[in-house]
Amino acid sequence: MQLTEIDHVAIAVNDLEAAIAYYHDTFGCTVEHREVVESDGVEEALLKVADSYVQLLTPTRDDSPVAKYLANKGEGLHHIGYRVDDCGAALESVKANGGRVIDEAPRPGSRGTTVAFVHPKGAFGTLIELVQE
Ligand code: CO
Repeated sequence: MQLTEIDHVAIAVNDLEAAIAYYHDTFGCTVEHREVVESDGVEEALLKVADSYVQLLTPTRDDSPVAKYLANKGEGLHHIGYRVDDCGAALESVKANGGRVIDEAPRPGSRGTTVAFVHPKGAFGTLIELVQE
């Protein structure tokens, strides 16, 4: 079993401040980590829920994949991040089983993690992020 935990559930939003305020006012959630990931063209806010996070994501530029997602599909669930002990091994397992990958090799993610994305086509319509801490 390579998946050790749900690391985060990512939700694409148009207005990050409004989404943070919603989770705070409605459920009492507070932001544990906030980061602009320039390479992905996103700003994220992580709200801790037990040992996992809700990751609110908003684009920082028009050509970011999240901007395209919002334009095509609107706000909502964007991807699920599964925690793994070895991102490279998990990615190889995806390829060995005929899955499509977005990242050919692990790369830096937010919070100093190592990540790789798996294409939703071949993964039952879910964009999967493999997250190694
Ligand atoms: Co993510």
